[in-house]
Amino acid sequence: MNSVVDSWREQVQAFDRDMAALREMGNRDDHGQGRPGGFGYANRPMDPHRTDDAALNSLFGVLGAGREVLDVGGGAGRFALPLATRAERVTVVDPSADSVELLKERAAEAGITNVTAINEPWEDADAPEADMVLCSLVLHHVTEAGPFIARLQEHARDRVAVLEMVQTPGVVNSPFFERVYGKSLPTLPGLARLMELLWSMDIYPDVEMITPEPAVVGPDRDAALEQLRHRLAVREGAAEDERLRAAADELLEETPDGMTVRGVAPLRQAVVTWRPARRD
Ligand SMILES: C[S@@+](CC[C@H](N)C(=O)[O-])C[C@H]1O[C@@H](n2cnc3c(N)ncnc32)[C@H](O)[C@@H]1O
Repeated sequence: MNSVVDSWREQVQAFDRDMAALREMGNRDDHGQGRPGGFGYANRPMDPHRTDDAALNSLFGVLGAGREVLDVGGGAGRFALPLATRAERVTVVDPSADSVELLKERAAEAGITNVTAINEPWEDADAPEADMVLCSLVLHHVTEAGPFIARLQEHARDRVAVLEMVQTPGVVNSPFFERVYGKSLPTLPGLARLMELLWSMDIYPDVEMITPEPAVVGPDRDAALEQLRHRLAVREGAAEDERLRAAADELLEETPDGMTVRGVAPLRQAVVTWRPARRD
């Protein structure tokens, strides 16, 4: 029995259990994109040709001369689209129909024609192998992380790259959650748990820390409130919304980067990479 795999599963299941009531209120199941603890702001439009994104630049380094990329849980293409400007082909696997739709729209707008999408969960997808298999900010929502990671490896010819947060991924939402619901937001597994999990699978990866980024919730107060409602399953005008607005008055801070959260340190992330064991 692998106790790390078991405790990972229990942590994600406990989160999902605690969130079930909220998901019902929000009436959606969008595979982590908008769930409390999710990283919904990641879905904002971003320039595929940007040069100032430290995580992306690290991924370019991993890509090297690799020509084919598989982006598992690639969402609306935050990394898939810029990677496609250097790779021969990028395939995104994602169960969220909305994200895949956005990905296609944004690829068309940017004139990027070498990105294709498989609109299915990774566990069920019939996906091609690739030189680099990327999985960014997805694993912390995956209950059976062991087989999920094993599958990433099986599809990687050269490297697996996983982007994960040091802090529990819900750290930005946590102070709002406490004020709205009067209890703590359950935690999801972050980088430390991921390292334990990988080591338990006999995977000893390289870890590159990314320059910390401010914990931005949105460009302005209204956008931040909308994002928080979405993440915490709060309906506009409900009693919870009143508490959320009060929390926003207290906690949101205007900065040149956008609205950040008082007391939340800049977000630290790492790019975790390894070469899969040979499958001769
Ligand atoms: C927080 S978003 C990250 C999106 C993108 N990778 C990024 O870093 O901007 C998590 C993504 O994982 C996807 N996802 C959740 N469960 C998944 C699964 N079982 N297989 C593949 N993707 C999944 C969600 O639909 C969502 O697009």
